[in-house]
Amino acid sequence: MQQQAVFILAIESSCDDTAAAVLQNDKVLSNVVANQLIHNEYGGVVPELASRAHQQNIVPVIDAALRKANVKKEQLSAIAFTQGPGLMGSLLVGSSFAKSLALALNIPLIAVNHMQAHILAHFIDEEGFDKPTFPFLALTISGGHTQIVKVNDFFDMEIIGETTDDAVGEAFDKSAKILGLPYPGGPLIDKHAQLGNPKAYVFTKPKVPGLDFSFSGLKTAILYFLQKETQKNPDFIQDNINDICSSIQHTIIEILMDKLKLAVSQSGINQIAIGGGVSANSGIRSTLKEGEQKYGWKTYIPKFEYTTDNAAMIGIVGYQKFLTQNFENSDVVSKARIQF
Ligand code: KG4
Ligand code: ZN
Repeated sequence: MQQQAVFILAIESSCDDTAAAVLQNDKVLSNVVANQLIHNEYGGVVPELASRAHQQNIVPVIDAALRKANVKKEQLSAIAFTQGPGLMGSLLVGSSFAKSLALALNIPLIAVNHMQAHILAHFIDEEGFDKPTFPFLALTISGGHTQIVKVNDFFDMEIIGETTDDAVGEAFDKSAKILGLPYPGGPLIDKHAQLGNPKAYVFTKPKVPGLDFSFSGLKTAILYFLQKETQKNPDFIQDNINDICSSIQHTIIEILMDKLKLAVSQSGINQIAIGGGVSANSGIRSTLKEGEQKYGWKTYIPKFEYTTDNAAMIGIVGYQKFLTQNFENSDVVSKARIQF
């Protein structure tokens, strides 16, 4: 019997990107993201501005997603939206829109956990990309989170390690800020790092027991190091930007890899999937790939457009929840903080 096509409209508005996607079953028909450049002027996301920009962007972004997918709203099977975690004002724009449209079209409403979506993005059907099998370990690295998650099944996940202070994305962004690079600095550190020597400077790694992480000390170490060096040579940063970025990135990757190796040995699971904005980092991607040869790991690295915040990942969770009829009433509330 041929399976009936399920069309999901997915909406993501947890932080500073307004995104919408249309999926047909587990295939992405369209994936539209409107970045909010306004925050760059402030060196970080300003919640009130984010919420206002979502209100301006949401209708054109959803309209573009439907048009690109060539799907009419009357064909939609359900609407999935990000319930949390995220900025409350931003989440409310997406959830209010999703609720109203689901009500108007008389179709089911599906609430999605943003962090689960970063992990389950690996189940989007994409040519050339394998899907992990359960159980696997997920390393979710973003501007707000750094976690190692044991994924037993689609909705059976266990956090086995997480940051005790800054997220890894913050470590990138705050280091970049110290270097005078604009926000968000992660991609810029990555760019400079590719041209530098990763072993030019050594920064001490934090000593955190078990599978937890800490990144706040690294930022301080970088700050003191640069203060000392610029006293000797005021142009130290300009003269050595590539080596500095490469050494910072190298230290961050080592911190992540040390914990991953420990997680593999403790859990006996050697399938590793990465997700979240920082998984766009070229050094992290290549180091993980090397892990396949070095440690016999099987690693899953998502397609670039599914790493940073996007709605396709919300859509794939929506599809899984649609299959089990895991729907919400319109009184479902947004949550700034949620665990799995
Ligand atoms: O997942 P995401 O888009 O948003 C959150 O949920 O936080 O992640 C954004 C984070 C930012 O900190 C950004 O600097 C970082 O991902 N990022 C990178 C790279 N691309 C994005 N960090 C390092 N290297 C990159 N290439
Ligand atoms: Zn995210």
